[in-house]
Amino acid sequence: MTRLDDLPLRDDLRGMTPYGAPQAPLPVALNVNENTHPVPDEVADEILTEIGAALREVNRYPDREFSALREAFAGYLGHGLVRDQIWAANGSNEVLQHVLQAFGGPGRRALGFSPTYSMYPLLTRATGATWVSGARGERYELSATDAAAQVRETDPDIVFLCAPNNPTGTPLDLSVIEAVYEASRGMVVVDEAYVEFAPHSAPSALTLLPGRERLLVSRTMSKAFAFAGARVGYLAADPAVIDALRLVRLPYHLSALTQAAALAALRHAPTMLRMVDDIVAQRDRISATLTELGYDPFESWTNFVMFGGVADPRATWESLYAQGVLIRDVGIPHSLRVSAGTDSETTAFLEALASVDSAS
Ligand SMILES: Cc1ncc(COP(=O)(O)O)c(C=O)c1O
Repeated sequence: MTRLDDLPLRDDLRGMTPYGAPQAPLPVALNVNENTHPVPDEVADEILTEIGAALREVNRYPDREFSALREAFAGYLGHGLVRDQIWAANGSNEVLQHVLQAFGGPGRRALGFSPTYSMYPLLTRATGATWVSGARGERYELSATDAAAQVRETDPDIVFLCAPNNPTGTPLDLSVIEAVYEASRGMVVVDEAYVEFAPHSAPSALTLLPGRERLLVSRTMSKAFAFAGARVGYLAADPAVIDALRLVRLPYHLSALTQAAALAALRHAPTMLRMVDDIVAQRDRISATLTELGYDPFESWTNFVMFGGVADPRATWESLYAQGVLIRDVGIPHSLRVSAGTDSETTAFLEALASVDSAS
């Protein structure tokens, strides 16, 4: 049998492991920060109608510039943004890949503050760039002074700021973004994949865009919009940045069906987002109950909670698995991460965990 090493694979890809969160068919799946509520019926019907209409013209290539969708994202985001400042792709993973293809690549460096989203190093290395792992504080926080000092020391071409951070849930103050921007000469990507779950009063990095042509704010429809399977991510930045991303995308990368589905979903943004408050309530319930059970949940502004105080994460993970509950072992000592589910999924997780005697 041919092994990977037998192939003339790029030297810098040897030894890498692909992204691989387990996809197990368990009744309660709370491991990849999905929105576990399905798309509301009334919107699903309209999305289907729009996909049906697009299907009748699928013999033609789609709008390469996905103009209507970019217009709709600009309207949804507000902050005076216009179509020329918007980019979109098949999930924010692809958006980030475009950023790395345009601004990373061989001989360049990308910096992120670990632990952070596991795809940043993978995407970075896949473009031939070098990943530099910066550090966070004791509770995974990041201060403006510390982050700026690490940027000055590393001098990266790209900085990834995950706000709020995955897998820890940690909020990020706008002052950190401002300081990192000032300290860097490269592109600064603020990944707001979970921003809809943050307190409504917390300002978005979108407010910092005017006058900062190296600042990029990426978002996704996968989480709050309950659209993970449709694969739609997007980004706001200076129009010149969008021109750069156009250089590396494949022609017609967003299918006509994806564009139609996303447009219909965006037209019903308030309905699509109506479960967000409920998810936030479940997240806070998880944190409170974890504390009662003797665990150490970290502050979270997302739809998941990472918690410490787990004596043997592998054993706890396996015990929950055996009870039909899938959560995530993110490889951080004595810690596990769980997504907030529906009320009954959350109850199933909390009851299963209570039956495991593993708080250290
Ligand atoms: C921080 C962060 N960014 C980006 C993504 C990618 O999301 P998608 O490609 O589904 O838009 C995720 C997914 O979990 C994430 O946690």
